[in-house]
This record gives sequence, C-alpha cells and structure tokens, in this order.
Amino acid sequence: MLKYSRIAGTGSYLPEKVLTNHDLESMFETSDEWIRERTGIRKRHLAAPDQTTVDLAYIASLRALEAAGVTAEEVDLIVFGTTTPDLVFPNCGALLQDKLGIRTACPAIGLEAACSGFMYSLSIADKFIKLGEAQCALVVGAETLSRIVDWTDRSTAIIFGDGAGAAVLKPADAPGIISTHLHTDGTYKDLLYCSGGPSRGFKQGTDGRIDAFIRMTGNEIFKVAVKSLGAIVDETLAANNLDKSAIDWLVPHQANIRIIQATAKKLDMPMERVIVTVDEHANTSAASVPLALDTGIRDGRIKRGDLILLEAFGGGLTWGSALIRY
Ligand code: UT7
Repeated sequence: MLKYSRIAGTGSYLPEKVLTNHDLESMFETSDEWIRERTGIRKRHLAAPDQTTVDLAYIASLRALEAAGVTAEEVDLIVFGTTTPDLVFPNCGALLQDKLGIRTACPAIGLEAACSGFMYSLSIADKFIKLGEAQCALVVGAETLSRIVDWTDRSTAIIFGDGAGAAVLKPADAPGIISTHLHTDGTYKDLLYCSGGPSRGFKQGTDGRIDAFIRMTGNEIFKVAVKSLGAIVDETLAANNLDKSAIDWLVPHQANIRIIQATAKKLDMPMERVIVTVDEHANTSAASVPLALDTGIRDGRIKRGDLILLEAFGGGLTWGSALIRY
C-alpha cells in the first residue's frame, strides 16, 4: 500500500564569510543600488578555502536530524542535490554518509539539476518513502558556487552565493508531501551552463585560468523563469483541485526578488506570505529552497498544518514545485 511522506525536520547553514554588494564595487563596475534594485540581493556568504559543499551540507544535515528528532544511524536514504560537488565521484551523498558516520550501506544519491536540485531530490525521496523503500530520508541541497563563479564577470558574480539546506522525510498516514511536479527543457541548455567539464574538457584562458565558470544569459532566463514558474503554479493547483487562496506560504527559489514577486502576483499572494531570503544569501542554487524553508520554520512563520508551495528554477533549464502540508 502506498504511504505518504512528511517533513519531520529541516536545517540549514551559511558559511561565515560575507561578501556585500559594497565589497563587489571594488572588484568591478557595479553598485549596491543596481544590485539591490535588479535582484534584491544585499550580500552573499562564501565558503572558507578549506570548506567544501559536503562540509556545508554536514552542518545543515545535523541541524535537520536534530529538528526531526532522529539520529544519523536511522537515515536509510540520502538524496543530495548539488551542481558543485566536492569531486566528480564519489557522489556527495556517499561523502556525506561517511561524514555523518552512517555505516548501514544505505543508498546515497548525488543529483544534479542546478537550482532545481532540491525539488528533484525531494520528489525522489518522497517516492522511495511512498513505496516503502525508505523510512527516514535525508534530502539535501548544498553548493559552493563561489568556486565556479567568474569573479571578473559582473553579470554573474553579483548573483550567486554558498550555503546548504536539508530536510528529513519520514512516513506518515496523511499526506505531508502532497504532490511534486518536475520539468526540464534542454533546448535552453545554452542560457545557463558551466563552461568546463570532465568529458568536454577544460580549456585554459589567455589569463591562465582554467575555464570552468558559470555562463548565463540573465535577461532571457528571467523571461523563461517567470513564464515557467507561473505555469507550474497553475499545474500544481490544478493537480490538487485547489484554489490559489488555499496556499498559506510560498517558499520560492531565491534567485531574484522580481521573479519572486511575479510568482507571488500569479498566486494573488501578498509578499507577507512569501518567505524571502535572497537579500541575505543571494542565489545558492540547490540550497536556496531548503534555506528559505528552514528560515520560515525556525522563525515561527510556517507552522505545522500550513499548506506550502515550494518552487525552483535553474540551469537545464529545469524547474519544479512541491505542494506540502507541513
Ligand atoms: O537560478 C536561476 C539562475 N539565474 C537567474 O535567475 C537569473 C535571472 N536573471 C536576472 O536575475 C537578471 O537578468 C540579472 C539580474 C542577471 C540582470 O538584470 P537585467 O535587468 O536582466 O539586466 P540586463 O542583463 O538586461 O543588463 C542591463 C544592463 C546592461 O547594460 P547596457 O547593455 O544596458 O548598457 C548590463 O551590462 O545592466 C548592465 N549590468 C550591470 N550593471 C551594473 C549587468 N550586470 C551589471 C552589474 N552592475 N552587476
């Protein structure tokens, strides 16, 4: 018999070092005012040189496990969304499993869906639990995007930051995760990509740097994001026969305040019902939704029983949503 999954606990972590918009003003031609107006971002956090994606995920995971009241040994599935893995392999799920001291040989999945990584990971973990193949799933979104940002490119350097978020899923008699919706359109692959990879190879630029950086056509992505997120909101409501007024909280991907406002408008939602953290940590890709979710839960805005719509959008292009009864 199919079961349901629910979010038992969440956790998040931002590295200590902060880079403000004013700091960026000394790196290339930009201004705090331009960045705030166009994106809503005030600052971003950067991993320390010796901190990896798994290190950030480890702290977020410990916090999520504590909030869920479970021990690491109880975890029987890890799904880890990231675009900036520590290594090509082993996958970050395996590295996190080892770091958490889990010795049960539970499956650990590394998943790359760019900024939609957490939505994809959540959807997969939900299905394992529904099918009875997992009883305690650790779902992670974590990134060290600062390692693939071209710090000479002002169109991307202002946007991204490092961070991690995690959620523990447990089986439930009533739906916690009500539905998930995932999409990819690979025809948009050239709008947002990393310019180097193990199979295509890494070129060396004239400045001597290895060319493996985020490349983005921001204004085109902006248009597709607003359209796709509007459509997935409709799809999620229609799949559940719900009116938009039923949603208590929108927890959107934290990429750009103007994209967030457009999605809130589509839902006729006042911004007071939207969890916004983009000003605090910029776009942390796969970490962005769990970071915002954890913020809303820990500061007491999101309460047990609330109906929450999560959504994200990123390179691929990929996008996804989840309707959750918290
Ligand atoms: O998770 C998904 C990942 N990506 C996104 O969500 C990105 C979505 N897109 C965006 O957030 C916006 O497109 C940006 C914030 C990246 C850019 O804002 P925009 O309003 O779309 O600006 P634009 O790219 O159309 O550029 C407008 C102007 C250009 O100058 P000209 O050609 O009009 O003279 C740019 O050169 O702004 C200039 N510009 C900057 N100026 C100051 C670009 N970056 C900067 C900057 N500071 N950092």
